[in-house]
Amino acid sequence: MLQRPRRNRKSEVIRQMVQETHVSAANLIFPLFIVEGENQKTEVSSMPGIFRYSIDNLLREIESCMKLGLNSFDLFPNIDEALKDRHATESHRDESLYLRAIRAVKKEFPEACVITDVAMDPYSSDGHDGIVENGEILNDETLEILGKMALAHARSGADIIAPSDMMDGRVGYIRKVLDDSGFTGVSIMSYSAKYASAFYGPFRDALNSAPKFGDKKTYQMNPANQREALIEARLDELEGADFLMVKPGLPYLDVIKLIKDQTELPVAAYNVSGEYAMIKAAVRNGWLNEQRSVTEVLTSFRRAGASAILTYHAKEVLENKWL
Ligand code: PBG
Repeated sequence: MLQRPRRNRKSEVIRQMVQETHVSAANLIFPLFIVEGENQKTEVSSMPGIFRYSIDNLLREIESCMKLGLNSFDLFPNIDEALKDRHATESHRDESLYLRAIRAVKKEFPEACVITDVAMDPYSSDGHDGIVENGEILNDETLEILGKMALAHARSGADIIAPSDMMDGRVGYIRKVLDDSGFTGVSIMSYSAKYASAFYGPFRDALNSAPKFGDKKTYQMNPANQREALIEARLDELEGADFLMVKPGLPYLDVIKLIKDQTELPVAAYNVSGEYAMIKAAVRNGWLNEQRSVTEVLTSFRRAGASAILTYHAKEVLENKWL
């Protein structure tokens, strides 16, 4: 035999020498859930090890992450049901939980990268990402609200705005709103290919944000489609996105690779709540080795072409020195 590929696997030193992809703290973005109140830290039952924090505890959590070299955070608010309405007005009220949290984090940790989520669902009495009228999700009317949210986030100090709503034209709309108000330096990480997935279940438990009727299939993508992801990615790029995201992660590695091959922009992958819950459940049952399965999953995103990985595993992999 002229070629014996096993020679390049014969020792740990050689295996590391020829390793093609690496995951480091710099690639990781940690999603964090926020609740109203003081000294709150409540575990999400379907996401062991993941908590909802009041702003004071959120600051302590971010501090401990930054000591580990984890510097990027994506914030999500759990909003009191009484504050929700059809137009998600709470989403751009100056004293809302979310805007106070962004300001507090940027004040205490100016060097942290704060990513903010733009979509109506946590604030919507309908539990949808857009305005609902007669059972339909209105696109263009929703853009106006998304623009207000994005502007409020930028004013509060957000570094990157991440629209997760899947309305048509929202990246261009938000880019214009930001630029017109002088926020030309605020980035947009677009959820470009966001699928109507079963794997968001635990996240909706965390925020109590599940749709009150129907599903999200008229705006989130059909899991069976790949070419449609290219249309979404191309539009977001033309509309001024700085990052293109694929979500969920593991069931869509092909889509990450496809988009990566068609763009020069950095691609992000969202290793969502249900993917986290699956691993935790199997580990708890003694069915999977946690360190090996988590690092294998994160490596697969890098191999598929993702620069950034949004993952609930971000802190634990650094705390346990698994990378
Ligand atoms: C909502 C939003 C969702 C997630 C991020 N932003 C859920 C949804 O679309 O219903 C899911 C994240 C996760 O499951 O970890 N705009």
